[in-house]
Order: sequence, then C-alpha cells, then structure tokens
Amino acid sequence: MRIDIITVVPDILTSPFEVSILKRAIEKGLVEIHLHNLRDYVTDNYKQIDDYQFGGGAGMVMMIEPIDKCITNLKSQRDYDEVIYMTPDGDKFDQRTANALSLKGNIIILCGHYKGVDQRVRDHFVTKEISIGDYVLSGGELAAAVVCDSIIRLIPGVLGNETSALTDSFQDDLLAPPVYTRPADYKGWKVPEILTSGNFPKIESWREDQSYERTKKLRPDLLGEE
Ligand code: ADE
Repeated sequence: MRIDIITVVPDILTSPFEVSILKRAIEKGLVEIHLHNLRDYVTDNYKQIDDYQFGGGAGMVMMIEPIDKCITNLKSQRDYDEVIYMTPDGDKFDQRTANALSLKGNIIILCGHYKGVDQRVRDHFVTKEISIGDYVLSGGELAAAVVCDSIIRLIPGVLGNETSALTDSFQDDLLAPPVYTRPADYKGWKVPEILTSGNFPKIESWREDQSYERTKKLRPDLLGEE
C-alpha cells in the first residue's frame, strides 16, 4: 500500500511513522508513506497557499491551484483508489472504513487547514471525506495520522500473530474482553481464575461473554440498543 499525504505542516506527520508498528511496517515494505508539502507546489514568491474567502467572512481558505498541481502530479505517476479529504464535516471514521481502506492500493490524503479548502477541490478531486469525530482540530494532520495508524495495522503482516488485529475491539461490533498479565495476585487484586485454568475452550467462551457484557454496559449502541 502507498499513502501520499498532502499537508502544509509535514513536520506534524514525521514522528508517527518513525516509531513502533508503523516504522516496522514501512521497513518491511508493507506500506510507503510520502509526505508532500503543499508550499512546494506554489509558484509565487510568497509561497501563499491560502486566501480570503469570496463573499467576505472570517478565516482563510486553501487555494485550489497548489492542490490541483500536487494531486495532478501524483496522478500522472500512478492510479489512486481514493483521494481522501480530512475534515470535521466528513463521514465519521470507524473500524468498518478502516477495514475497507486497508484493502486499497494507493491513496492520497489531503489535510485541511484554516477554514478548509476551496469547495471546487472537494467537488472535482476528492472521492471520500473523513472526520475522526465531532470536534475541530487545528488541521487535518493529526486526523490523517489516526486514519493511517488504524489502516496500516490491518495490513496482513504488519502485526504478528500475538497482536492480531482480528481480536481488536470493534472488529465484530463488540468491545474487546478485559486482559490481564503477571502477577496473578497484586495486593490482593486477583486475575479471574478461569484465565489461569488452562481450559482454553472455557477461556474462549468466558472472553466472548465478557465482550458481550462490556459492550452492553459501555456501548449498547453497537448492539442496536439505546
Ligand atoms: N480537521 C479538523 N478537525 C478534524 C476532524 N475532527 N476530523 C478530520 N479532520 C479534521
């Protein structure tokens, strides 16, 4: 998989890919991340990427030309499955979308800033608009990092068997069961006995029950309840 991220602040997006699971995924050649600084696609000397909005009003708008140049340049080199725009008024991101995106080959992610991009960018280039929640960030970069992290960990080979993404919360519309590690007794706080019984079919069924009970208690909406 190849992800091209278009941003005015590439620095925000360097460290998430330089550590831990995402770093290893890149090293193993399972994903390529390419950051593109929008200012590199501006021809005027002031490197201006935003301007006042037509009709007046507070807030600057990202101009179409540098974005067009960057996307058109990328598209001239390969085909892209999606051009995603990160914006608080996009479709709410969830595990289902992460699963679908993890199956794509090449995607572009455009990070919004200021009041957002000129609407013509959304009308003519963008194929999918994603929000990571009903709150407003200073820009789309942190949201793009969230989306990249959640989809890269789903690519086969990124996680080892011991951390398989298949047992994550939300994979089957249920929250994950509680987990414990050593010591089995800490200050009198004991690990549920079943987990140290060695009876794996019973442990599996306990985990399924716990998943269901936790979901019912914490996220009844996932079960279609109020
Ligand atoms: N840009 C600013 N806020 C955002 C959000 N909540 N989701 C995606 N992109 C954003």
